[in-house]
Amino acid sequence: MFRILGLIFAVVLFAGASGCTRTPESAAGFRLPDGDQIAGRQEFIDLQCHECHSIPGETFPEILNVDPPYVVLGGDVTRVKTYGELVSAIINPSHKLASGYPEELVSEGGVSKMRVYNDVMTVKQLTDLVVFLQPKYEVVVPNYQYRRYR
Ligand code: HEC
Repeated sequence: MFRILGLIFAVVLFAGASGCTRTPESAAGFRLPDGDQIAGRQEFIDLQCHECHSIPGETFPEILNVDPPYVVLGGDVTRVKTYGELVSAIINPSHKLASGYPEELVSEGGVSKMRVYNDVMTVKQLTDLVVFLQPKYEVVVPNYQYRRYR
């Protein structure tokens, strides 16, 4: 009996010590400073994000000689847009392309057509943009039409 308990104890201890899923690449412990929503809206315009993006309920100054925005940010989504997803979408856009668009419209050879900002964007701009964008997404429960069988 004690031997079995001892074995269970050892297994639990080993699992705890090895940390199970904690690999050096894990994002555990990752936390950026809080952003400023109002500044984020201004930065969205200053960085010309609205050249390619529209946001339902927002109007931005027109940019002359540029095609209208073609990727919508915000609006109804069926699952939460996480902080990590938004940060990645901005600083590593090719990691996962926006869903719901034909690949050839938003990428070329697997590379996102989004402008690369990593050499010009500050961390403050990034965190402000994310807190500006996140509340624009509204999680809705999909309205499946169930067919009734009689
Ligand atoms: C030259 C066009 C262009 C500009 C400028 C641009 N983007 Fe994008 N962006 C795209 C395209 C194309 C996609 C879709 C492909 C992808 O997911 O990378 C995208 C995707 C995104 C997504 C993910 C959307 C989703 O549904 O997953 C976010 C968030 C985003 N952009 C934010 C920004 C922000 C913030 C800026 C300004 C700092 C910006 N973009 C500037 C073209 C642009």
